[in-house]
Amino acid sequence: MCFSDDALSEQHIVISGGCGAIGLGVIKKLTDHGAKVTVNDIIEPTLAETRLRDIDIDLTRVTYVKADLTQEAGVEILIDGAQEKFGSIQTALCHIGMVIPKPLLDYEANEWDMTMEVNVRTAFLLGKSAAQSMLKHQVAGHLIFTISWVADVPWPEIGPYNASKAAMKQLMRSFARELADKGIRANAIAPGIVSVGLAKHQWETDSNYRARAQKAIPLGYMQPLESVANAFLFLCSQAANYMTGSVLLVDGGCSLYPMD
Ligand SMILES: NC(=O)c1ccc[n+]([C@@H]2O[C@H](COP(=O)([O-])OP(=O)(O)OC[C@H]3O[C@@H](n4cnc5c(N)ncnc54)[C@H](O)[C@@H]3O)[C@@H](O)[C@H]2O)c1
Repeated sequence: MCFSDDALSEQHIVISGGCGAIGLGVIKKLTDHGAKVTVNDIIEPTLAETRLRDIDIDLTRVTYVKADLTQEAGVEILIDGAQEKFGSIQTALCHIGMVIPKPLLDYEANEWDMTMEVNVRTAFLLGKSAAQSMLKHQVAGHLIFTISWVADVPWPEIGPYNASKAAMKQLMRSFARELADKGIRANAIAPGIVSVGLAKHQWETDSNYRARAQKAIPLGYMQPLESVANAFLFLCSQAANYMTGSVLLVDGGCSLYPMD
């Protein structure tokens, strides 16, 4: 993708859950295009640094804040740490996600609660606090939510995850609607079946999932990490300035029709 190396040089971007498989690829892409990135996760700082270093991320362009974003106090720690290091925040990526793969009838109530807490509550808390910080610093900022093609397609055996991503989509649209006149935009990226992270784990450990997924991708192969990172680069860039309330669907055609 042809964006200049300084396409994001004016931006300080915060990413939650950034030390996971997709997050690291996104951070690499954003820093390679000039962004300063505050990375959040719940892992220890030494492990975070190792993961960032292992993929040759320019460590002068990142700072790491360990915090549990299911808690308001954790979000406060993140926003304060981010501003202290790199100043006002232009873009917040609400990126944390988890999935418990099993049939709906086997789900326990606490598993439902955990899925909603980790996926939806963290997105709400970070979106809210980041937007408040943008308003305070008079920044025309941008909230970006990582959802999924399954926000619209009920992929089997991850029902609460599907519901959580649909909730995040409507949360994003609500932020977009309420904050447009204050100069803050909100959008979402909906990846498909990515060849790293949550989906790769299911692909490797669950033969039913693998058989279904192999039939479900019209383009015929799992989504490369680079494809997701490029979508983030575009949405964070000036090229996407007129977008708000949109979902950027990059799924290799998965959502075109049910193929399982
Ligand atoms: N992998 C896929 O195929 C796929 C497809 C579509 C969408 N997504 C979405 O992309 C995002 C990243 O997925 P991934 O595959 O990289 O997952 P991952 O499990 O590799 O990364 C998630 C990260 O979130 C962190 N995290 C969990 N709870 C946290 C908390 N309370 N506070 C702070 N950090 C926390 C984890 O430590 C982990 O590093 C998720 O939102 C996921 O739903 C993934």
